[in-house]
Amino acid sequence: MHGKDFVSIRDFAPPEIQYLLLLGRQIKAAPEAYSQALKGKTLAMIFEKPSLRTRVTFDVGIQQLGGFSLYLSPAEINLGKRESVYDVARNLERMVQGIMIRTFAHEVVAEMARTARIPVINGLTDFSHPCQAMADFLTIWEIKGHVEGLKVAFVGDGNNVAHSLMFTGAQLGADVWVATPEKYEPKADAVAWAKQHARETGGDCHTTQSAEDAVRRADVVYTDVWASMGQEQETAERKRIFKEYQVNKKLFACAKSDAIFMHCLPAHRGDEVTDEVIDSGQSVVFQEAENRLHAQKAIMLELMKDVPVGPKHPEIVPELVHA
Ligand code: CP
Ligand code: NVA
Repeated sequence: MHGKDFVSIRDFAPPEIQYLLLLGRQIKAAPEAYSQALKGKTLAMIFEKPSLRTRVTFDVGIQQLGGFSLYLSPAEINLGKRESVYDVARNLERMVQGIMIRTFAHEVVAEMARTARIPVINGLTDFSHPCQAMADFLTIWEIKGHVEGLKVAFVGDGNNVAHSLMFTGAQLGADVWVATPEKYEPKADAVAWAKQHARETGGDCHTTQSAEDAVRRADVVYTDVWASMGQEQETAERKRIFKEYQVNKKLFACAKSDAIFMHCLPAHRGDEVTDEVIDSGQSVVFQEAENRLHAQKAIMLELMKDVPVGPKHPEIVPELVHA
């Protein structure tokens, strides 16, 4: 996996995803064993949207691996306006050993990854949220003991979180159901990819407009906000359209009696989920949030461990390097 980026779950083979999850569990079990694993390496964190979990877990995660992080706010970089994605990438690759980026268009992350000769990690785009899905399946694996064959129901908007959940479920043999109102389905090519790849792992992927059908006998019930970052002006309209997709006690009761409730957070309590579900004993949302840390430490370690610190580009005069 060395030299790779972490842009989409689709870029990996199932054993690579399994390996990263296993490494995440090992790091969680014995964090001190990895305290120098990325000694002296720096992660640049570019944020064009707000964040609590992603920022804190990448920041704390790299420090726990012996490295440093650099927070770059929208005001500082002004990506694509003050400077092109290409130029930002070609600068940063000389200064840091990895880039984490949260932005709007997925293509920006893809371009950054194509351009920068250091690993680029997707910290959320309008299309996907792969680090979230890694933490989600780490959590499911911890609690259920396995992932294959589990029914995972995502109820709400067919958004970035839904896409990554579908991709990861397909890689790991889960049966992922996504229930959305008409016109809010996940992207057709994402569904097609998940269906096709799930066939190879014994999983499946279904879309439906019926929240009950998705949740019926599910092992995992998952939801996310109805209006994602960047869609704030649609909030009122979406509240009306998504009303029937609220995960409340009645809907959750359709799932298996030992089902768990998951949410990537932040949650809009009273909209997509009620307090009685998110605060119930079956809710694992804070364990899920913590697992962002462990899953991402595994990703950073695997991608960044062989990236050298210091000058590494051809124009460097050899005598000076050896002096
Ligand atoms: N789940 C998640 O990515 O949270 P933040 O937006 O707070 O980073
Ligand atoms: N779908 C949400 C996820 C936040 C972590 C958003 O993009 O705002």
